Amino acid sequence: MTANLGELMQSYGSDKGPSGHNFTKFYTLFFAPIKDSVKRVLEIGVSEGYSLEAWRDYFINAEVHGIDSARISEHRGRDILNLNSDRIKIHIGDQMDREFLQNVADIHGPFDIIVDDGSHKSTDQLFSFYALFPYLKSGGYYVIEDIFDSYDGSKFSGLRPRSFVATMKDHIDIVNFYGATNVGDRHKAIPIVEKLIGQNFSEGSPDRNLESIFFSDNLVIVKKLGVTQDE
Ligand SMILES: C[S@@+](CC[C@H](N)C(=O)[O-])C[C@H]1O[C@@H](n2cnc3c(N)ncnc32)[C@H](O)[C@@H]1O
Repeated sequence: MTANLGELMQSYGSDKGPSGHNFTKFYTLFFAPIKDSVKRVLEIGVSEGYSLEAWRDYFINAEVHGIDSARISEHRGRDILNLNSDRIKIHIGDQMDREFLQNVADIHGPFDIIVDDGSHKSTDQLFSFYALFPYLKSGGYYVIEDIFDSYDGSKFSGLRPRSFVATMKDHIDIVNFYGATNVGDRHKAIPIVEKLIGQNFSEGSPDRNLESIFFSDNLVIVKKLGVTQDE
């Protein structure tokens, strides 16, 4: 029987499930079709390891890597290195440490899915996104949870310039420019958009490799351009 991701998250105690943020409602849309082919998942933010255990059970063929700056978990005082097992690997380090992130990703990447559930600070979310996006597989997903730090308090008008959400809105313009070229093969549209905006994207840059950006409640899911149109 296919495991239900929402129930898994909930049974392990992660707040990603239906009685918490309910991010799993959207994860199922994107991840269910690829669940058996996913080989490597990376999540920033381990805490007690609840979500890592749920990912392991859901992606039955995947190795699940977790990054956290705290070796001893905040709530239960667990040594999270004890979560290390055949399909869960823990790496202690900071999501703002480029060398650490690259070292983990060079050894264990590229990843099918990367999830940022770490500090939830807008600056950190941007930093880790740009550091790790090159290590996402073509056609893979980069997920950022809890994006409210991009806003100034609870004001609707409070989106901060250059915040994570503001920057993703800029990236959405690039995705729309691709659509506006009316070139069916997205790879052929890249030079047209580069000419349109007067700038050449470097090989690994997100703008050259963005397939789509999905926004929902407190959640962003970025899909990297596939090698072929079908991915
Ligand atoms: C919300 S918890 C993760 C919950 C877990 N993903 C789950 O769903 O069960 C956030 C974790 O991020 C870690 N964290 C906070 N700031 C960090 C940073 N700068 N780098 C790496 N990890 C960080 C915290 O130590 C904490 O364990």
